[in-house]
Amino acid sequence: MHNANTSRYENMAYRRCGCSGVQLPGVSLGLWHNFGGVDTRESAREMILRAFDLGITHFDLANNYGPPPGSAEENFGSIMRSDLRPYRDELIISSKAGYRMWSGPYQDGGSRKYPLSSLDASLSRMGLEYVDIFYHHRPDPDTPLEETMGALDSAVRQGKALYAGISNYYDPTLAARAIEILRSLGTPLLIHQPSYNMFRREIEENGLLPLLEKEGVGCISFSPLAQGMLTDRYLNGIPDDSRAAKSHGFLKADRLTEDRLAQIRRLNEIASRRGQSLAQMALSWVLRHDAVTSVLIGASKVSQIEDAVGALGAPDFSAEELRAIDEVLA
Ligand SMILES: NC(=O)c1ccc[n+]([C@@H]2O[C@H](COP(=O)([O-])OP(=O)(O)OC[C@H]3O[C@@H](n4cnc5c(N)ncnc54)[C@H](OP(=O)(O)O)[C@@H]3O)[C@@H](O)[C@H]2O)c1
Repeated sequence: MHNANTSRYENMAYRRCGCSGVQLPGVSLGLWHNFGGVDTRESAREMILRAFDLGITHFDLANNYGPPPGSAEENFGSIMRSDLRPYRDELIISSKAGYRMWSGPYQDGGSRKYPLSSLDASLSRMGLEYVDIFYHHRPDPDTPLEETMGALDSAVRQGKALYAGISNYYDPTLAARAIEILRSLGTPLLIHQPSYNMFRREIEENGLLPLLEKEGVGCISFSPLAQGMLTDRYLNGIPDDSRAAKSHGFLKADRLTEDRLAQIRRLNEIASRRGQSLAQMALSWVLRHDAVTSVLIGASKVSQIEDAVGALGAPDFSAEELRAIDEVLA
């Protein structure tokens, strides 16, 4: 078993998740890339244990993370068993269902059938009795929202999840309906997981972020580093071990256009003037909103997690810095 660092809670900032009783670490770790069957278990284990030692109590998964789908949950379950079993009560573990998982008509979408059967499969892969948060991963326009939210409510009532979450519900009207339905069922929505970063500001602009704040729902931003673009990773080309170089990586090299790289270089200069790495500045920028509970990062190396945690406690942005960033992003 892992012998956890006894000072692990001293340097992490925990932020309240909406108006709930739960606090999440300012930085959380997601297992979408680099924790699957194609990756090395030892490297996954090192990152998870180092994260926990740094006070990162929240680990985010989904049924389909891998590749192959399901393998990130299997690896996480194996690390839970070998190293973290005594620490279960110190962890917030999430999973999701909503993207295509397998073949056939019952492994995609938002019917009662899919999320509830998928949650059972996730629990079995991870060897857990419950997850802390269970998300519907993306809206399903072909299923009544009442049915999908009813499935989340059932998962909580069955004791298989402590809280309900939604992800990728970018339309504020749809998110507001989901919030209302869950509240009426007696299972208030804990958290929304949208993407939010310097290159993707939709939730600031379309009113979703203010809605979550008004409704007391937490917000955890996924891909706060734009899958690695908002870091120094690609300043000098595409490294062989980077996400953009991997055939199964979701970041395609053609997204690193000359215009994008020019923006990244200018942002990197602003970060240096603040005494931060670009990754740290990108995380501080997302966390500048009180409505954002946590940034949900990915990592391929322990050093990246250490760098991310270093973003917490950075000085607030001056109006001039925010203007300079906006100018680069315009
Ligand atoms: N709900 C959804 O639909 C959804 C969608 C996507 C993601 N997510 C969640 O969000 C999590 C994070 O997503 P993401 O991996 O795209 O997040 P991200 O933090 O934007 O990108 C992570 C990548 O950035 C690079 N990186 C991280 N820290 C770095 C540092 N300090 N310096 C240099 N490079 C650094 C690494 O790239 P290399 O691998 O190249 O080293 C790492 O794999 C996922 O694991 C998942 O839990 C949810």
